[in-house]
Amino acid sequence: MTKFKRTTVTSALPYANGPVHIGHLAGVYVPADIYVRYLRLRGEDVIFIGGSDEHGVPITIKAKKEGLTPQDIVDRYHNIIKKSFEEFGISFDIYSRTSSKTHHDTASDFFRKLDAKGEFIKQKSEQYFDQVANQFLADRYITGKCPHCGNENAYGDQCEACGTSLNSTDLINPKSTLSGSTPIMRETEHWYLPLDKHETWLREWILDNHKEWKTNVYGQCKSWLDMGLQPRAVSRDLDWGIPVPADNAEGKVLYVWFDAPIGYISNTKELLPDSWEKWWKDPESRLVHFIGKDNIVFHCIVFPAMLKAEGSYILPDNVPANEFLNLEGDKISTSRNWAVWLHEYLLDFPDKQDVLRYVLTANAPETKDNDFTWNDFQTRNNSELVAIYGNFVNRTLVLTQKYFDSKVPECGELSDYDKEVLERISSIKNQVSKQLDEFHFRDALREAMNLARTGNKYLADTEPWKLAKTDMTRVGTILNVSLQLAANLSIAFEPFLPFSSRKLRGMLGI
Ligand code: 2FM
Ligand code: ZN
Repeated sequence: MTKFKRTTVTSALPYANGPVHIGHLAGVYVPADIYVRYLRLRGEDVIFIGGSDEHGVPITIKAKKEGLTPQDIVDRYHNIIKKSFEEFGISFDIYSRTSSKTHHDTASDFFRKLDAKGEFIKQKSEQYFDQVANQFLADRYITGKCPHCGNENAYGDQCEACGTSLNSTDLINPKSTLSGSTPIMRETEHWYLPLDKHETWLREWILDNHKEWKTNVYGQCKSWLDMGLQPRAVSRDLDWGIPVPADNAEGKVLYVWFDAPIGYISNTKELLPDSWEKWWKDPESRLVHFIGKDNIVFHCIVFPAMLKAEGSYILPDNVPANEFLNLEGDKISTSRNWAVWLHEYLLDFPDKQDVLRYVLTANAPETKDNDFTWNDFQTRNNSELVAIYGNFVNRTLVLTQKYFDSKVPECGELSDYDKEVLERISSIKNQVSKQLDEFHFRDALREAMNLARTGNKYLADTEPWKLAKTDMTRVGTILNVSLQLAANLSIAFEPFLPFSSRKLRGMLGI
């Protein structure tokens, strides 16, 4: 399939400030898991890296709200998230966290190396400072009047009433959410990654050499590059995060978007302390990042610039980002509690992980935002999983039990039709593979389902229940062929519906 020897697959590290919902699963974790399971089935060398993103302002805000420490918050949600992923069969080789010592050391070393190589610039700027709380304020910590719509409670990064993204200095009559006081402007100094210096090679690398990237990904990169890249701060004035490992850096931590992607490396180190480097540095290794569309710029531009500046790492070969999943026509929102939380889904549908995996893949937001509805969930369960996959497996096994006491009957002489049906197995396998190689998960799933469709049509055309009165040899052949289809169904669906595939293999005794 590839010119590569091994594949490092990462999936975005979710913020440990809340549980995970169907949007996370559909956008990132189910496709990543399908891809990894597929590579494993092919016998490829692959590792699947995950973990929680435990730094950043949203976590400190949540902690303040609940009167807890940020560490309390991330401990709680890291465990909830980790458990949800396990329950849904997301088959990480490691699921770690960015508060780990390995990660703090790895991210600090990474910063030091870039600093020593002169890859940063230092710049002074004026930022809001809360004199009562005695700290600089992240944009989210400031509210005020929106200059566009007049909403009195707009945040420093966005007005939720009119949707405009803002800078905190745009707000009229700004207030600190920490103390309620009016913040003042104070000078601060930060480390910046001069992305402008990287623009030329980034343009060539993405726009000329990665035309195969998904159009949504390529398009977003192109528009960022066409606007021209600016230096980006990699440190913040905050008391939660990885302290900046440099002189005169008191009260400063690494910006969460600097340390989080390094988490992929730290977690690989934790998984493979002796051999992690080959997964990240050998040009024969392939790096693939699964993310949502809001993470594209960080994975396609900023992190590659960091890796290149460091000098010894490979760059991502592909970044198959998805668009967003809405819920019943409305944007999924943690703050408005408009979501189907994974741990709550399992309360209503215990043991139905595969149904959700199926629906989220069949309706994945691969090329545009998509909508999840319970109506569609019900229809796909009843008229696809039950009526096509379940029906075929059920009929095959029931007939085998009835006529052959659950033993696999011998295969007699094959008709042309039998041969044609058996040949469909390898042609469908090729189709599924081709679609998965191109990250077309919906199409791949549809192809896999065609195997069950083939089986249903075969049973309907050959009608073994009628032949049972006259020709048991022929019935045996038909069921032998059907059982072969069922066995291959368990393989074709393994990446998509791992729980059902295991169950099916159990029923078939393979
Ligand atoms: O958007 C998010 O949820 C981020 N926590 C993703 C980080 S991905 C990687 F860089 F760790
Ligand atoms: Zn507004």
